[in-house]
Amino acid sequence: MTGVTTTEHYLELSVFPTSPYYARVHVRRVLEGWRRDDLIETAQLVISELVSNAVKAHTSCPADVEATHLGPDRIWMDLYLVGETVVLRVWDAARTPPVLRDPDPDDESGRGLHLVDLLATDWGYYRPAPGGKIVWCTLAPSPSEEQEGTIQQHR
Ligand SMILES: Nc1ncnc2c1ncn2[C@@H]1O[C@H](COP(=O)(O)OP(=O)(O)OP(=O)(O)O)[C@@H](O)[C@H]1O
Ligand SMILES: [Mg+2]
Repeated sequence: MTGVTTTEHYLELSVFPTSPYYARVHVRRVLEGWRRDDLIETAQLVISELVSNAVKAHTSCPADVEATHLGPDRIWMDLYLVGETVVLRVWDAARTPPVLRDPDPDDESGRGLHLVDLLATDWGYYRPAPGGKIVWCTLAPSPSEEQEGTIQQHR
């Protein structure tokens, strides 16, 4: 996963609180098109967290913003398939990395990436040469879905 070549299911978003909503709608549409309803709920949860983080990062780290092909105050997301696995990516202009926090019970934040960590098969980030950073995660079919597929194949 290197570079910033985007896929056909690319969506550019504003740095705005409604962007996680549009990202969820986009993810639903694409997964429905792929007939991957098994992953819609999980993918929507995860994309919400990643896009919320991108919006926050962009807002709170303006000093890190570097020149990009996008206008100011824009982020993007896309998704693509690698076999049965869905890859979700979110780009923002901040170079600072995502960090798994260790929130106290009273803390109101610091849990989003734990959700991603729990639901995704894998996740990480990289800094493409043109600027900013891409946070990605992969979602595999649940074992029960895989089993169903196997059972159906053997019928
Ligand atoms: N895209 C990002 N760019 C820069 N830093 C990030 C990004 N995503 C996450 N982080 C860093 O990782 C930390 C943990 O992210 P996480 O989503 O777990 O918590 P949060 O966004 O602070 O709160 P919550 O998601 O619970 O509302 C953030 O506080 C932030 O410092
Ligand atoms: Mg968060």
